[in-house]
Amino acid sequence: MTAKIIDGKAVAEKLNAETAAKVAAFAKAHGRVPGLAVVLVGEDPASQVYVRNKGRTTAAAGMLSVEHKLPAETGEADVLALVRRLNDDPKIDGILFQLPVPKHINSDRVIDAIDPKKDVDGFHVVNAGRLAVGFDGLFPCTPLGSLVLLDEAGVKLEGAEVVVVGRSNLVGKPIAQLLLRRNATVTVAHSRTRDLGAVCRRADVVIAAVGRPRMIQGDWIKPGAAVIDVGINRIEEGGKNRLVGDVDYDAAVKVAGAITPVPGGVGPMTIACLLRNTLISAERRVSK
Ligand code: GUN
Repeated sequence: MTAKIIDGKAVAEKLNAETAAKVAAFAKAHGRVPGLAVVLVGEDPASQVYVRNKGRTTAAAGMLSVEHKLPAETGEADVLALVRRLNDDPKIDGILFQLPVPKHINSDRVIDAIDPKKDVDGFHVVNAGRLAVGFDGLFPCTPLGSLVLLDEAGVKLEGAEVVVVGRSNLVGKPIAQLLLRRNATVTVAHSRTRDLGAVCRRADVVIAAVGRPRMIQGDWIKPGAAVIDVGINRIEEGGKNRLVGDVDYDAAVKVAGAITPVPGGVGPMTIACLLRNTLISAERRVSK
């Protein structure tokens, strides 16, 4: 048996088309388009690629895309002042503060300054709390994208055993909360988990979000299980630079029922969910 390959690029394109149609309807009803502001401090090469892609996709969906690219030496006070200006700007519905940032900036303080209603990354503690408690809010994009892929693949979450490997605030914890809201039985495993292989083998769904290349092995996957690989690791192999996930894909694809590739799985869903969050924020802001 080989697994069904979950095509994240195709699902992201479909979601982006739906968002673009809703953006057009929003513009007709309200005489403006939803606006997303991105703040990038410094010149991290991966961040520059993300920000360029975000700008392009945002504009393609018919939204306003505003980029604030600040030099690496910009002080925290200036970043905070910019965030407050964006909080007060009626054209801006979403604010994304690109991570990572230079060491002299405390990213927690910057995220804390973002108006939670405009926090389209869902990183503010108010949104993390609202997610945990079961309220409406804005929730992180990679976790949301992972759930969309599971739904598209027809994976039943209610009552399912799901093992999330990784407990970061950006992915592991919010994904566990979203899965609980869908009535899954959720285990959050991590680097100190005893016999991680045995824990994973129990799972109907494995979510790999540890940031370690190919750590999840093929024989850790229960035959027929769904595997969502959130990892994006750059490695040197055979003299070449390659992108690999947290799952040993070549082995896992032979056992799993469905699996996301890297690249082309979860990756494209993050921006698609960011655009959807920006639209949701705009709709909430006009209806209050
Ligand atoms: N850096 C890499 N991915 C992301 C993301 O989704 N949001 C932010 N703010 N920074 C990132």
